[in-house]
Amino acid sequence: MNKLLSELDAKELLEKYGSPLFIVDESKIIYQYQQIKQKFTKFYPNTEIAYAYKANYLLEICNLINRQDGLAEVISGFEYQIVKLLGIKGNKIIVNGPYKPTEELNSIIEEGCIINADNINEFEKINEIAEKQNMIVNVGIRINAKIGKLPWSKFGFNVESKEAFNVTQIIKNKFTNLNLNGIHIHIGTNLTNVNLYKESISIILNFIEELKNKLGIKINYIDLGGGFATEACPAECDFKEWKVPDIEEYAKAICEPLNRFFENETDKPTLILEPGRYLVDGAISLATSVITVKSISGIRSVFVDAGVNILPSAFYRKHKIEALTDNIEKELTDVYGPLCMNVDLLESGIMLPKVGVGDILIIQNAGAYELSQSMQFTRLRPAVIGIKENGKISLLRRKETIEDIIRLDVFNNRLVAI
Ligand SMILES: Cc1ncc(COP(=O)(O)O)c(C=O)c1O
Repeated sequence: MNKLLSELDAKELLEKYGSPLFIVDESKIIYQYQQIKQKFTKFYPNTEIAYAYKANYLLEICNLINRQDGLAEVISGFEYQIVKLLGIKGNKIIVNGPYKPTEELNSIIEEGCIINADNINEFEKINEIAEKQNMIVNVGIRINAKIGKLPWSKFGFNVESKEAFNVTQIIKNKFTNLNLNGIHIHIGTNLTNVNLYKESISIILNFIEELKNKLGIKINYIDLGGGFATEACPAECDFKEWKVPDIEEYAKAICEPLNRFFENETDKPTLILEPGRYLVDGAISLATSVITVKSISGIRSVFVDAGVNILPSAFYRKHKIEALTDNIEKELTDVYGPLCMNVDLLESGIMLPKVGVGDILIIQNAGAYELSQSMQFTRLRPAVIGIKENGKISLLRRKETIEDIIRLDVFNNRLVAI
């Protein structure tokens, strides 16, 4: 049984805040942050942790990580607005992503954010702004390379084809108001194979050598992105074969080659990591109530009040589900959500104790890319509560209301906004 929830009486919480309910274990987020920071700095002291906001941009979570002295990684204007709302200074903000409109570039340059450019037009725009302001702007380059099964080649410039090197030549020769000082890559998400990071760092180190020898460019930071895995396995996997490495294994894979390469240098570049799911996934569970039980083609089918609208990753990964019941006898079960769509299936073929209407299921690892990718489809989104280290509970987001749904509508020539 989920220790946290049995202690606090999940039933009482759902009665107070409504069902379903997202529950954030704040101390777990802090623990995850400290783990990644400590394990990496042990091998490579000059490491910075930048939380990838897209994983979950609930203000309390972002603020919690900011208080641990982490950086913030954002990829869009509104994520940037959230960072500003939290009062985070430009030098602690990394701006990535394939689309940075000119007005956003203007302010992130003015604020002195760390910028990783994705395409040639972006370099051009940043150079233009810098020229107008009569300044030199530091900028990093996003690269991609054939690493793993599905390389993230939509982003940045390819290394193997020399595209990345060619563009650095253009930057050096043509964009005279830019100072290329960083390399950025992000190779995927929920990666359990630490060797992919070894490949990634080796490609970057070769690239750094080439930039230094051929163009005299000095790189101040290597931003390796995120991707560190959590306990929710992809749909095609099985929990038995899903082995999540300790964060120290990633740290060794990345830092050992880094230390070897920069062995004789006093001025080693900063290593930046951008974990999203690693920090928040396991810290958030989704409590949901059973609304009915059917037998569909002879399979016990438990229907709950949380659907794929608030657990979108159910389409592509498995979550461990726990039933808050004293029944120990388990049966093969499918778990469906309450939406009017046939694909609203949360888990299929899992062993679950006998449950009845009103019983509570706890869906674990509901922290990353669930709320931020949740969709507004036919049901109001639930509240989110946080449990602090001392057990204190606070509301982090209230339940959606009908006013939230219609406030942007224009009706009778009038904006409904309430
Ligand atoms: C550039 C970048 N950094 C960091 C992340 C975070 O990845 P993860 O949540 O797998 O750690 C992402 C996710 O898509 C990303 O695109």
